[in-house]
Amino acid sequence: MTTRSTTLPGGTWSLGDPDVTRFGYGAMQLAGPWVMGPPADHDGAVAVLREAVELGITHIDTSEAYGPHVTNRLIREALHPYPEGLHLVTKVGATRDEQGGWPPARRPDDLRRAVHENLATLGLEALDVVNLRLGDADGPQPGSLAEAFEALVELQQDGLVRHLGVSNATAAQVAEAQAIAPIVCVQNMYNLAHRHDDELVDRLAAQGVAYVPFFPLGGFSPLQSAALSAVASRLGATSMSVALAWLLQRSPNILLIPGTSSTAHLRENVVGAALSLSAEDLRELDTIGR
Ligand SMILES: NC(=O)c1ccc[n+]([C@@H]2O[C@H](COP(=O)([O-])OP(=O)(O)OC[C@H]3O[C@@H](n4cnc5c(N)ncnc54)[C@H](OP(=O)(O)O)[C@@H]3O)[C@@H](O)[C@H]2O)c1
Repeated sequence: MTTRSTTLPGGTWSLGDPDVTRFGYGAMQLAGPWVMGPPADHDGAVAVLREAVELGITHIDTSEAYGPHVTNRLIREALHPYPEGLHLVTKVGATRDEQGGWPPARRPDDLRRAVHENLATLGLEALDVVNLRLGDADGPQPGSLAEAFEALVELQQDGLVRHLGVSNATAAQVAEAQAIAPIVCVQNMYNLAHRHDDELVDRLAAQGVAYVPFFPLGGFSPLQSAALSAVASRLGATSMSVALAWLLQRSPNILLIPGTSSTAHLRENVVGAALSLSAEDLRELDTIGR
């Protein structure tokens, strides 16, 4: 299997040295309910991953915590040996408990183990990008990331990780990480209705650093808003399409990783994200999250 040159909406962005398609794919939804256990439809999950690559997507977001171990193994089963140009971005810093919780695992030993687990389950000798996941299920929490981030820098110096990022991070933690070592991306919750990172998006754009919103479609609670529905019906599009197109138009450093367990939704999202939003549409959509 080879990746195709992209005609995906948004073009490409340089994530460190590699160019990735701004339209990517988030693999979290491939695990079982609440991201625990195997998928109900194993073959369907494999088909979604192969379709993503067929569509020309070169950026897949994953984590050893999804399942746990489930999405990484599916990615390997579906796509290994990986086509040239495909970039797998993973994250470390949280594990799973038996209740499906996401307890932090950010001690240097935890991070070293997590990097080695990702390498083993994905079948790689080095990971393209590793995000340090901070905070908790309630969102980013203040506090120094230095000890954890420095542990990842060591793994990078050992050649096990090519590029670093942070996730679920405050603006202060992003700046703290950047004072220690370069980062290529920040992965935080952001969408039409959650605009708390507006300033951070713009600051990172000026620095050439990618901003990768998680829950671009609202995650476990799909985006719902009267203004979004009004714009979507005026354009004859779905709310999902408008939400994705808005992100691509919001800033050139925004990379999309919408999740889906459906090849039909994946194709719909690729088409939908190409929607062109007028200044009037954007003004109306701006009222949702401000
Ligand atoms: N760093 C972090 O802490 C963190 C946290 C959460 C997520 N993430 C990453 O971010 C990625 C995206 O987040 P997410 O997947 O949770 O949320 P999302 O992309 O906002 O939404 C995914 C949901 O939207 C549905 N959906 C997608 N396309 C659709 C369509 N065309 N029509 C109808 N429904 C559609 C999916 O259902 P179907 O399966 O039925 O399509 C799924 O339930 C994840 O995959 C993961 O890689 C990172």
